[in-house]
Amino acid sequence: MRDVRAALIDRWLRINTCGSAVAPTSSAQGDAVFYEPTDYRLLQKYIKPLGLKGDDVVFDVGCGMGRTVCILARRTIRKCVGIEIDPLLAECARSNAVTLRGRRATIEIRLSDAAVADYSDGTVFWFNNPFGSKTMEATLERIEESLKVQPRRIQIAYVYPIHERVLWNCSWLRCVNRLRPLLYSTSQAVYWTNYFFASVGG
Ligand SMILES: C[S@@+](CC[C@H](N)C(=O)[O-])C[C@H]1O[C@@H](n2cnc3c(N)ncnc32)[C@H](O)[C@@H]1O
Repeated sequence: MRDVRAALIDRWLRINTCGSAVAPTSSAQGDAVFYEPTDYRLLQKYIKPLGLKGDDVVFDVGCGMGRTVCILARRTIRKCVGIEIDPLLAECARSNAVTLRGRRATIEIRLSDAAVADYSDGTVFWFNNPFGSKTMEATLERIEESLKVQPRRIQIAYVYPIHERVLWNCSWLRCVNRLRPLLYSTSQAVYWTNYFFASVGG
């Protein structure tokens, strides 16, 4: 039933994100999770607490066929960036970006291992259980490095937060919110932000 609903929403949006789970592509850390799109209903619910604004640049780290990227790009934000390691999935995400109904924001799909990607313009980072703790650690280090070069406030949303421990180990992050669906405790989302103090008059 959920699959039929997703296929109908896909069709209305003029995209195709209902691909079957393919074997994970190997990443440098060897901990990639296979493609499984985020449920449309959860997506709407979990995007809301981010309070997205017109100048936000939102990354979906492990974007697969681009469902989350497409939903985000229908909002008034500056840009949406999808990072994907699998070339075929990245290609699908690119063609979905072209055909998407009602796109408002620019979409960029970057074929890259998240552990080495460039996060310099990101203000919001979305993770839907894309990989294991090693790649999560490397990715958060990249984001932290980008903050040293370009200090700014960022938000992180982590859906199915299996490796949440990695974020708790980052002293530059603090947990600000947690949403749990009534039935499925693993499908929760946790929200984090960095300690950022804007300089007065700066
Ligand atoms: C659970 S799916 C996420 C789907 C997508 N975010 C959505 O909402 O539809 C995980 C995705 O992460 C990708 N992935 C896994 N390891 C990765 C890595 N090291 N760098 C970039 N993408 C990766 C997989 O290929 C897969 O498409």
